[in-house]
Amino acid sequence: MEGARSEPRVAGPEVIEPAALQLFGFRKIPDPSGNLTPVEGAHEIPFAIRRAYWIYDVPGGAARGGHDYRSLEEVFVALSGSFDLVVDDGRGSSVRQTLNRSYYGVYLPAMVWRRLENFSTNAVCLILASQAYDEGDYLRDYADFCDARRQM
Ligand code: TYD
Repeated sequence: MEGARSEPRVAGPEVIEPAALQLFGFRKIPDPSGNLTPVEGAHEIPFAIRRAYWIYDVPGGAARGGHDYRSLEEVFVALSGSFDLVVDDGRGSSVRQTLNRSYYGVYLPAMVWRRLENFSTNAVCLILASQAYDEGDYLRDYADFCDARRQM
């Protein structure tokens, strides 16, 4: 999983990074009174959005995630501030992607280990998800995750 950039160069409703870690540039509608970014699931997200949740008030130095999903797909957006998304394929490859613009999203398929860290003050991470919450879909043990990847 290589090739992700910390600052994508192209903005638009298209996939701008074809590596395993896909970056999306959403539309940005600028206005002197504030910018607006719309996302229409059918066109701009590669799954039907069944759930949204957001992470905020993260204390300095704290990390989130640290798990995998068996089938859940997600898109991560830094609505405010910044954080790093660290993605690991369980086969020796990992990539770190800084998210710091509210018009960029990162798509993660199922079966990738993810961790969120380096949250800035007042960072807000929006996650769009393909399924309802299901604790049974999680792999929370890294060794179990690597075993599952080996069987793929
Ligand atoms: P978890 O997914 O482990 O958090 P993160 O990956 O962001 O660090 O979830 C933390 C807790 O919140 C856990 O007890 C499950 C609960 N939870 C829900 O009830 N619904 C949800 O949609 C999510 C994402 C978590």
